Amino acid sequence: MAQAVEDARDSEGDQYLLSIPDDLRARAFASTDSTHQKRLGQFLTPPHVADLMARMFRCRARRIRLLDAGAGMGMLSAAFVRRQLMRDTPPAHIEVSAYELDEALIAGIEKTFEACRSACEANGVEFSATVRNADFLGEGAEMLRDDFFSMRPQMFDAAIVNPPYGKLSTTSRAYRLLRSVNAETTNLYTAFLNLIIGLLKPRGELVAITPRSFCNGPYFKPFRLNLLRQMSFRDIHIFDSRSAAFKHDKVLQENIILHAVKDTKAARTIRVSQSGGADGDAVRTRVLPTSEVASPDDPEAFIHIPTSERHLAAREQVCGLDATLATLGLTVSTGRVVDFRAREHLRQEPGKSTAPLIYPCHFQGLFVRWPKLPAKKPNAIESNSHTASLLVPAGVYVLTKRFTSKEERRRVVACIYAPDRVALGPVGFENHVNYIHDNGRGLEMALAKGLWAFLNSSALDLYFRQFNGHTQVNATDLRNVRFPTTVQLCGMGSRIGEDTLQQDQIDGIVAEELKA
Ligand SMILES: C[S@@+](CC[C@H](N)C(=O)[O-])C[C@H]1O[C@@H](n2cnc3c(N)ncnc32)[C@H](O)[C@@H]1O
Repeated sequence: MAQAVEDARDSEGDQYLLSIPDDLRARAFASTDSTHQKRLGQFLTPPHVADLMARMFRCRARRIRLLDAGAGMGMLSAAFVRRQLMRDTPPAHIEVSAYELDEALIAGIEKTFEACRSACEANGVEFSATVRNADFLGEGAEMLRDDFFSMRPQMFDAAIVNPPYGKLSTTSRAYRLLRSVNAETTNLYTAFLNLIIGLLKPRGELVAITPRSFCNGPYFKPFRLNLLRQMSFRDIHIFDSRSAAFKHDKVLQENIILHAVKDTKAARTIRVSQSGGADGDAVRTRVLPTSEVASPDDPEAFIHIPTSERHLAAREQVCGLDATLATLGLTVSTGRVVDFRAREHLRQEPGKSTAPLIYPCHFQGLFVRWPKLPAKKPNAIESNSHTASLLVPAGVYVLTKRFTSKEERRRVVACIYAPDRVALGPVGFENHVNYIHDNGRGLEMALAKGLWAFLNSSALDLYFRQFNGHTQVNATDLRNVRFPTTVQLCGMGSRIGEDTLQQDQIDGIVAEELKA
């Protein structure tokens, strides 16, 4: 109800609080060179996305201390203040702490905050702000350390953030500072979030827009574990389009907005919403049990985001399967030949003393087609005492691509390596390929064909895309997926001949065998 009243007031809200930082952005970045912008991760939030974030907060305290780390032009604070002023009973006091590394943006933040102050005054709300032209990683870690040692209570009731992205070297000063407060991580955005989580009071709220990449994969696992241990998710918003949310900066990345409360107890449900990403796009919302999004039983702590009926049906189908690769007695490994390390042993064309070397470019429908000539990639690797440990014995293996392009129709792309179609001796799989094997040996052909069909099915693809926001398919991802039983897989495989199949044929075979 309160939300509906706020929505009705939306058009009357102080729109200028959003247009001021947006105009400042447009003016500042028209002349800034894009290398500087990229280096500092200055992809500023457009007004409609900032508002989507600000309206997620539920805090109703009389005095609110807000953290805006990496403040840009102060857009997120302004959106927060604007939404707070639209409440039936606005808070008595809003106190903002903003951090911004780029000195050139400080005057802009101050202008935005001046407008916030006037709007607050007009509504009888006290507004105060501290703007720090400083590195948030350094100061945030410092504040956290003070909290640890002085037992001073954490400071912030709320944090709203669009952190910069980029790798953080383990040899950097920032990394050392993070480690000193147990917040180490190797990406800037997760570093910001780790610190912010530490600085929030119990029941403090976080709303963050970040890449979706943290939702799965081994790289972000420590971050996910920390996030899920300390924060209880309330809302997740995703955008249908990679580019729409940050159109003015041509950011091509899947983004997610997360709203979470600092609480070790998970909420029972999470609101998952979705929109096109452009201003004015309709928002579709559904409420899901938290266990479906972030299951407490998942050792990898993956975050799954089902968004449509088709996604939910695919999720139900895949999660309901009985097996995993481990229970099937199978293993997935990453190809052992890292081409730049084995360069001296690689050959463009096969020769008398070589073994086949398989790259993703050799995937061709059902079976690997090899050699690929004329050759852009090497087709062969010398088989000698130096390379013996890089090769696997002749056998039938199911291969998957580790990286798919954004344009590729499916996220998981599988293909069968059959020695009788290539060469009867050992084979090398290049590092961009994962291969499924039976304790280092090959598979029965019927089982391999069944795995091929299941891995290439639309159901698996839809399921996979829910938690895989990037284009990598790691071996861990495949280890965590549920699979049909051996009987079901062999049933699928026995219906596949020597020719590759169309997508609808694959889907038909998989659906029928799973129903049987
Ligand atoms: C993705 S932008 C978001 C800006 C603003 N919050 C918004 O949403 O429009 C990230 C901002 O963080 C700033 N920044 C980058 N590294 C920083 C650091 N170590 N400490 C403080 N600010 C930083 C950048 O200059 C940039 O303005």
